[in-house]
Amino acid sequence: MTEDVPDRRYPHRHLLGIAGLGADEIESLLDLADTYVELNRRTEKKQSLLRGRTIINLFFESSTRTRTSFELAGKRLGADTINMSVDVSSIKKGETLLDTATTLNAMHPDVLVVRHPDSGAVMLLASKVNCAVINAGDGSHEHPTQALLDALTIRRRLGHIDGLTVAICGDIMHSRVARSNIHLLNTMGARVRAVAPPTLVPTGIERLGCEVFHDMREGLRDCDIVMMLRLQSERMRGSYLPSTREYFRFYGLDYDKLAAARPGALIMHPGPMNRGVEIDGTVADDITRSVILDQVELGVAVRMACLEILSANNPPAPETEVAR
Ligand code: NCD
Repeated sequence: MTEDVPDRRYPHRHLLGIAGLGADEIESLLDLADTYVELNRRTEKKQSLLRGRTIINLFFESSTRTRTSFELAGKRLGADTINMSVDVSSIKKGETLLDTATTLNAMHPDVLVVRHPDSGAVMLLASKVNCAVINAGDGSHEHPTQALLDALTIRRRLGHIDGLTVAICGDIMHSRVARSNIHLLNTMGARVRAVAPPTLVPTGIERLGCEVFHDMREGLRDCDIVMMLRLQSERMRGSYLPSTREYFRFYGLDYDKLAAARPGALIMHPGPMNRGVEIDGTVADDITRSVILDQVELGVAVRMACLEILSANNPPAPETEVAR
């Protein structure tokens, strides 16, 4: 591959969402991520592939696993990685999103990893900078690297994604994880079910490619994967539920409801988890069924793959003469 030809496996400048990506592109990212899993288990984890490259993690919303995971991914590939969170930045002083973006852009980063509470904000930012942008979650719109790591987890456990039935359960309305997963799973040939109370399902979600269920046992019947979602109260304007106790009774994953799924069905959760609200703590910790920690582990490998490919697609600008 020459420096100015985009990587044919994923010939895009940014990763803003899963919608619109082809199965071969998703597959390529997963294949590359797969090659990093073993490296991440070694004592010596550092590579020099992205030496000299700069990655800025720009988080306008709190995050534990996504931010750490991107930071580790960048460092393990040898890049200089810095984290900026809203608390310590000028955003608190009233700077606009676009001013922040253009300011950071002037420092010549190679990749900006951005999380923002508003849907569409990351796409807007990407149109104003000349480096690669990765969407680390924008409002309730998309969270592409989460869907990719979920897909890698499924693929490594079950060997394939096509033909599987995946039940995505809980707060679909406010979930960018659900949207990215619905796109990815459909593209890869899985059948998707959205299982939630009527107040937590956006109208028209079926058009993205899923069947809607309001009863957990019906929604889970014979499914291969149960993907639980957190109740995202920080995005809720008004009251969607009578109480979290009531919610757990009808929609919380416990062994009783899980019995409707295929024997051995895998349990997933993007985290952070609210035990006793959307999932019973014992079920979440059941290592024979739950792959929640695998998801976290594989997240680093997926982010390494994304950083590698996008850095390759955004080669540094040719050396310019500095007149001084
Ligand atoms: C998710 C997110 O931020 O969208 N978490 C994550 O990235 N692992 C889900 C959530 O916050 O519930």
